[in-house]
Amino acid sequence: MLKINDLHASVDDKEILKGINLTVNAGEVHAIMGPNGSGKSTLASVIAGKEEFDVTKGSVILDGEDLEEESPEERAHKGIFLSFQYPVEIPGVSVTNFMKTAINESRKARGLEDMPANEMLKLIREKSELLEIDRKFLSRSLNEGFSGGEKKRNEIFQMAMLEPKLAILDETDSGLDIDALRIVANGVNKLKSKDNAVIVITHYQRLLEYIVPDFVHVLHNGKIVKSGGKELAHELEEKGYDWLKQEATV
Ligand SMILES: Nc1ncnc2c1ncn2[C@@H]1O[C@H](COP(=O)(O)OP(=O)(O)O)[C@@H](O)[C@H]1O
Ligand SMILES: [Mg+2]
Repeated sequence: MLKINDLHASVDDKEILKGINLTVNAGEVHAIMGPNGSGKSTLASVIAGKEEFDVTKGSVILDGEDLEEESPEERAHKGIFLSFQYPVEIPGVSVTNFMKTAINESRKARGLEDMPANEMLKLIREKSELLEIDRKFLSRSLNEGFSGGEKKRNEIFQMAMLEPKLAILDETDSGLDIDALRIVANGVNKLKSKDNAVIVITHYQRLLEYIVPDFVHVLHNGKIVKSGGKELAHELEEKGYDWLKQEATV
């Protein structure tokens, strides 16, 4: 599904990603870990096509197609979802109405008519039940006064509604409380299927007690310095990152 080849990316002429190789197949959950500043969020942004980063070498291929020329919107319409894409507060626009607009925009980009209202309602009901999101939450104003956990709930709801092929969840916030962790983990576990894939970015081993990844990759100084199965997360929990930094410089 996703193939990243020797990806190099810079911001303001400073190289941040220094040759990333990564293959993600449908049905897989990958965790990307690594110390602060190693380039995790940059990698997420580059996959999503954010324009502040220059890809200087290498490629990002989705279903055999090079994404180089595609805007973030086009990538989103092809099924790439990045959490925190819509962090804005929109007073007066409810979670539900925002979602309706997002879905219909995505359909329009694919040449489809608006989703009929009854179908939309059914989808909202189905997904909110699956994720145990209550009605009151759906009528709240988008992000206005949301707690950390509510922001997560909203993101996971967006992910559930948009049914992305590839979801990238960048869990930057080390202040995530146990509630927020459970919401994210529960969402990922319920939404994963043989047809989609998830990349969870975290420097936070604890999240991986709830989401069991198929593969774990450690990023350090813009490179993947180690990949393994879920046991690698436990090893990092015990040993920290320093032993990998040493290996990486050998
Ligand atoms: N927009 C930007 N402008 C300048 N430097 C940036 C920008 N984004 C990231 N960086 C730098 O790139 C490096 C990697 O950052 P980041 O990808 O956010 O790491 P992580 O998510 O692993 O903590 C850091 O040194 C950071 O300062
Ligand atoms: Mg980050």
